Amino acid sequence: MATSQDYRLGDYTFPRGWFMIATADEINTHKPLAVRYFGRDFALYRGQESGRPVLLDAYCPHMKTHLAARNDTSYVIIDGGGTNVEGDSIRCPYHAWRFGPDGQCNDIPYHDGPIPKTACVKSWPVVESLGAIWVWHDPENGEPEWEHPSLPEWDDAGWVNWKFDDLGVLEQHPQEVIDNICDYGHLGPIHGSTVQRYENEFNGHLATQRQAGPHRTLVNADGGSPILHTDTTYHGPGVLISYLTGYYDSVLMINHTPIEDGSIKVWHALLVKSPSGSSPVTTQDEIAARQFQHASLLAFMQDFEVWTNKAPCLNGMFIPSDGPFMKARIWYKQFYNPRERAHEFRDQCDGIYVPRGAVAYSESESA
Ligand code: FES
Ligand SMILES: [Fe+2]
Repeated sequence: MATSQDYRLGDYTFPRGWFMIATADEINTHKPLAVRYFGRDFALYRGQESGRPVLLDAYCPHMKTHLAARNDTSYVIIDGGGTNVEGDSIRCPYHAWRFGPDGQCNDIPYHDGPIPKTACVKSWPVVESLGAIWVWHDPENGEPEWEHPSLPEWDDAGWVNWKFDDLGVLEQHPQEVIDNICDYGHLGPIHGSTVQRYENEFNGHLATQRQAGPHRTLVNADGGSPILHTDTTYHGPGVLISYLTGYYDSVLMINHTPIEDGSIKVWHALLVKSPSGSSPVTTQDEIAARQFQHASLLAFMQDFEVWTNKAPCLNGMFIPSDGPFMKARIWYKQFYNPRERAHEFRDQCDGIYVPRGAVAYSESESA
């Protein structure tokens, strides 16, 4: 598998940004969850007092026991009723040191002196939103540069909320997935779209694609296809949100998070506006929305199937009628380099691009 260095992305192996690390359901249990992203292991759990998610580095500073790996035999777990989560803290199964949500050790049962300050694990900034748990990953340990993902439609009773499709692990560098945001030429062959208008726009940490045209995968029950408009934006390197209008109004989300340098975990989901127009939504609306999410998943799987088997595109043979791949790759580099250098990359790609021979999205429909 190709690495960030192979793609010459910059100083860091893993990018800066918000990333999905679990569905909210996965931590609706009293047990901690062992997860691995960015080439490191974590313990993820829901604090039993606050209800808030907590993400800690996995290995106890005492003797490096994994705080969340499966353990059924330690008396810490047995006496804890099957878990080592205690309130908002977590207790190590080996010698029972306990760590708070800030990562600081707050109890060593067999020690009555002061607890060393260095008895701590790193605690990561996490939030819960849209049915998912998100981490702000930053090689410079800075504050979040933009807001975590949220959508007003999620709290609107007239929309059917999504359940995430977990696509598992893709053994490709995320660069291969990011390329899709500007891949004008694949829309016909892969998705069966007859693209009528198309453009990309890069603006700071956002990369957008707008397009309109009939579509052969997202069709209605009669097999007909209305004009599908998609307005799709990467909010940083790991979160894609797309507004779809056509058959049903909906909001698509695709998230991908690095596991190792060259592999990612991928999720797909679709929020659908009440197909019947009623608010709150009806059971029939929910059924129609689930079917539409499935059709959207099939469209995404058309990309996924190619990614599963392709070789890394380290030096593509791009032509002027392709989308602006080189601009998108420059845009992506801002997240792999120090924040103070982000403008160098943004200055080289901010703007609107239309592939040769295409009609710009912003031109009127009659154009
Ligand atoms: S290894 Fe965690 S308390 Fe000893
Ligand atoms: Fe695609």
